Amino acid sequence: MKTYNVAVVGATGAVGNEMVKILEERKFPVKSLKLLASERSIGKSLEFMGTDLPVEVLDEKSFKGVEIALFSAGGSVSLKYAPIAASEGCVVIDNTSAFRMEPDVPLVVPEVNPHAIKDYKKRNIIANPNCSTIQMVVALKPLHDYAKIKRIVVSTYQSVSGTGKKAIFELEDQVRALLMNKKVEKKVYPHQIAFNCLPHIDVFLENGYTKEEMKMVNETKKIMEDDTIKVTATTVRVPVFYGHSESVNVEFERKITPEKARSLLRKAPGVKVVDNPSKNLYPLAINAAGKDEVFVGRIRKDDTVEYGLNMWIVADNVRKGAALNAVQIAEILIQKYL
Ligand code: A2P
Repeated sequence: MKTYNVAVVGATGAVGNEMVKILEERKFPVKSLKLLASERSIGKSLEFMGTDLPVEVLDEKSFKGVEIALFSAGGSVSLKYAPIAASEGCVVIDNTSAFRMEPDVPLVVPEVNPHAIKDYKKRNIIANPNCSTIQMVVALKPLHDYAKIKRIVVSTYQSVSGTGKKAIFELEDQVRALLMNKKVEKKVYPHQIAFNCLPHIDVFLENGYTKEEMKMVNETKKIMEDDTIKVTATTVRVPVFYGHSESVNVEFERKITPEKARSLLRKAPGVKVVDNPSKNLYPLAINAAGKDEVFVGRIRKDDTVEYGLNMWIVADNVRKGAALNAVQIAEILIQKYL
């Protein structure tokens, strides 16, 4: 079997760390693995396949001989280093929003538009979508194919791990401080996140929406390859460590019952239906954490429109929302194209 020289950029971060774990778990054919981060990580190492690998400092020469690089070190790092890696012949799978909406960069969710990967050759870059968008489109694609989506109204309940390691520590520290009657420190978020909900993810734009909300609007259309789908979003950070939850209201062009939606979703790749309210069974962030599937439940009719459904969609944002989706893209890349 052919093996590949792989690099993970941002390997010490929440997503990068998970990428390393998932490469091992899924037995990705790795010839060599290069772990890249900033100077802050000099001296650190991570375990991969039973060996401790040193973390190296990212620089212009990091990508010599690397065939596939998974980037998750922030947009500015990707903007600077992804083109450098690509020019060395390395295929970049980028988890940031830096290139997602560029027309010559494929934006891929393997369960939805795996065929788009073929266009990687234009720039040698493939973009991994936003975490909240990924879990939503995995669940909605089979329903869209059946009844065609007209409009989506989504509100998210996003965990702090989506912001990165520092935010995980911030929630932990604030909870501890509050329970001990101490002063809360805020470094990552503009307000206390412990025991609170912040209707503010990423920066505010001129239209009054946040950038996170507009990512959901624009990325959904690009991944589903359908500009006619109307999307409106409210994205909220909640004091949960792992797992994003979403309340999703969908209006369709054609009839689709909750029963039909459940049966389509039971057959859909990467989806697990958890929908038995009489037994208090519905998707929960704490159950989705550490899992690969997108969980869907609370599927019910929206009687205010002709053909409408409401549902609750939950997934591990660090896995399916980021690291796993990137590794799945890499798997298709090597099976079909490299
Ligand atoms: P480091 O740990 O050395 O700071 P998270 O999203 O969990 O905050 O992680 C961000 C990841 O991106 C970390 O691995 C971090 O490395 C890395 N990173 C951030 N800035 C840079 C940079 N300028 N060069 C290389 N890696 C970076």
